[in-house]
Amino acid sequence: MANVVVVGAQWGDEGKGKIVDWLSERADVIARFQGGHNAGHTLVIDGKVYKLSLLPSGIVRPGKLSVIGNGVVLDPWHLVEEIAKLRADGVDISPESLMIAENAVLILPLHGELDRARESQNSVAKIGTTGRGIGPAYEDKVGRRAIRVADLADEATLALRVDRLMVHHDALRRGLGIEPVDREALLAQLREIAPQVLPYAKPVWKVMNEMRKAGKRILFEGAQGALLDIDFGTYPYVTSSNVIAGQAATGTGIGPGAIGFVLGIVKAYTTRVGEGPFPAELQDADGERLGERGREFGTVTGRKRRCGWFDAVLVRQTCATSGVSGIALTKLDVLDGFETLKICVGYELDGERLDHLPIAADQQARCTPIFEELEGWSESTAGARSWADLPGAAVKYVRRIEELIQCPVALLSTSPERDDTILVTDPFED
Ligand code: GDP
Ligand code: IMO
Ligand code: MG
Repeated sequence: MANVVVVGAQWGDEGKGKIVDWLSERADVIARFQGGHNAGHTLVIDGKVYKLSLLPSGIVRPGKLSVIGNGVVLDPWHLVEEIAKLRADGVDISPESLMIAENAVLILPLHGELDRARESQNSVAKIGTTGRGIGPAYEDKVGRRAIRVADLADEATLALRVDRLMVHHDALRRGLGIEPVDREALLAQLREIAPQVLPYAKPVWKVMNEMRKAGKRILFEGAQGALLDIDFGTYPYVTSSNVIAGQAATGTGIGPGAIGFVLGIVKAYTTRVGEGPFPAELQDADGERLGERGREFGTVTGRKRRCGWFDAVLVRQTCATSGVSGIALTKLDVLDGFETLKICVGYELDGERLDHLPIAADQQARCTPIFEELEGWSESTAGARSWADLPGAAVKYVRRIEELIQCPVALLSTSPERDDTILVTDPFED
């Protein structure tokens, strides 16, 4: 029996939340394995909209275990706020339904301050981050000075950890013209939040392995997208974690053999929030139209997302780095009504044709997209629940994408609603 990893195969916001929510009916455990509350995952269930940033999208289904793995960076104040918001919406959350890795790293207020100071002070270094302290928290993790969830349980350890962290941060803050860290205030904040987080803290690696042995179905929920991956993304315009499928194992403490089906979530066109290269970007009426029809505004920051045609070169690349078994193609309905559609099938650089995005920044900037034109369709695909409901030109578009990215479509999504989903291959049964 396959466990399933869901990963974004573009620059994020592909519709992972909707697909994870839909698939979670078939799963026992839903686990986040990287990123933090920089994610914004939207679920629409019978017209009701849920926006999740930190909690796994399975949390809205009763009887499922939601897991926040060690690969996640956790802002405890945000956690408490998100739990409260969902409870107000009638979602039941308790230590029976939610488990947080003891060895997950904490995002502290000083991380957000540093993130925002860097983004505002020095425009040369601007990444266009979500400003939520994600990068600085991961820096402290690999710098071996982070505070982890388990540290909240012991006051003496916590004080030592804070002191260690301050040596580094006060030096940085001086350079940026920010006040030094207020040690006593930070310790007081941590002491106050600790009892609200600790009931969820567990050895996640152990529980995950027990679940696996017991034959439970695990659904791993990726955040961001492979083009934002710290190694394989458009560096430095990326997030600070590995987001590709291999991270599901290291980010929860389960061996890579536990990963069966890798489902890449792919939007039927391309979007990106923040700075960085985007070869198939549209700065014309078609781009505006994609943004309007697709309601392309960030879930977390409200920023307008940049829009462009489908880039088959990039998705073929991300399907390779994540070992994608099949894709979920989302937002096909947004393309309804376009007379013609374009797909980027290659790049031209210095008179040569490339079948992948080169790694060097100057080369990336000089790549021009080679487009193939396809016929559009005038009919509505919104809400379609079977292949038979799709116009011929839409089927051709989907088939051409499969061919170009060398990967089959397993699921097709035709509206934000949970059930407007066409199943081709069940990832859990494949
Ligand atoms: P995520 O970060 O990958 O979970 O995606 P977001 O939630 O940030 O953005 C995807 C947006 O598209 C959300 O507003 C979803 O409700 C919406 N969405 C998902 N699938 C579809 C679809 O098939 N059609 C349309 N029109 N909207 C969709
Ligand atoms: P979901 O899970 C889209 C982008 C930011 C910025 C870069 C670095 O909803 O798909 P960070 O705050 O992570 O240091 O920002 O990454 N980014 C996302 N873009 N979707 C996301 O998550 C993103 N999470 C981060 O816009 O360009
Ligand atoms: Mg999102």
